[in-house]
Amino acid sequence: MSAKVAVVGSLNMDLVTRAERLPRGGETLTGKSFATVSGGKGANQAVAAARLGAQVSMVGCVGDDAYGQQLRDALLAEGIDCQAVSVVPGSSGVALIVVDDSSQNAIVIVAGGNGQLTEQKVAAFDAVLQAADVIICQLEVPLDTVGYTLKRGRELGKTLILNPAPANGPLPPQWYASIDYLIPNESEASALSGVTVDSLASAELAAARLIAAGAGKVIITLGPQGSLFADGKSFRHFPAPKVQAIDTTAAGDTFVGGFAAALAAGRSEAEAIGFGQVAAALSVTRAGAQPSIPTQSDVQAFIPS
Ligand code: RIB
Repeated sequence: MSAKVAVVGSLNMDLVTRAERLPRGGETLTGKSFATVSGGKGANQAVAAARLGAQVSMVGCVGDDAYGQQLRDALLAEGIDCQAVSVVPGSSGVALIVVDDSSQNAIVIVAGGNGQLTEQKVAAFDAVLQAADVIICQLEVPLDTVGYTLKRGRELGKTLILNPAPANGPLPPQWYASIDYLIPNESEASALSGVTVDSLASAELAAARLIAAGAGKVIITLGPQGSLFADGKSFRHFPAPKVQAIDTTAAGDTFVGGFAAALAAGRSEAEAIGFGQVAAALSVTRAGAQPSIPTQSDVQAFIPS
């Protein structure tokens, strides 16, 4: 029986265009392609954890539109338990994404159904939290709901991961005591800590501040530079495998889902970080959010160059 991961978070339909470069304000660019792709940070992390070996349950909301049905079906096709994915009136979450020739992206999200994931909806599926070994949250659903989930997860003694994405400023201070693993990227770590993260040294400073705020352990993802782990006693840099990136969308989600799946399966933190990093590296070699996420056998077959 594989370890259980619960993801409380967002589902978005990604409307993805590829263009030579990202547009400037007021500019119209001609794109090269368009695709609708299942995404959303919560759903991406759920798919990653499932493909990478965990038994996964999703807690979230989709609208009663065609996108909502597709988003739910995409998770069901991965064997993810969706009994706690509610269908609510209105549109589903969407993300407007432009990916440029250098594989960077710009994203605008509209919450849609994700905005209706209330504390009450999470509480109604308490059995899902109770059954989980690891619970993952992000910030694309109402903050009160994230705060509730962290508090309830702590009461239940679960391992709690917060991927603070997207981050617009500091987290509510009372959340920190419930976070076992805080996993921001550089810009999120900067927003949370007030330290501009642009080097390993500044990442260490930011991580130290987040630990001082009360986070158990911090992993700052650094894109092609890998990640920085901090536990309050020491720092460890994990270099990333070198790959040819074509689309970085959902790389962070793949790391979080892979890390959670490996941790829930009893692997050490260092092994789980290495596993998540290989999975994330493979994801950037493929286009789209959920379609880019590798399986456990893809990761096992990968030999870093
Ligand atoms: O992290 C990538 C995700 O961010 C995309 O799938 C998009 O939906 C946005 O939520």
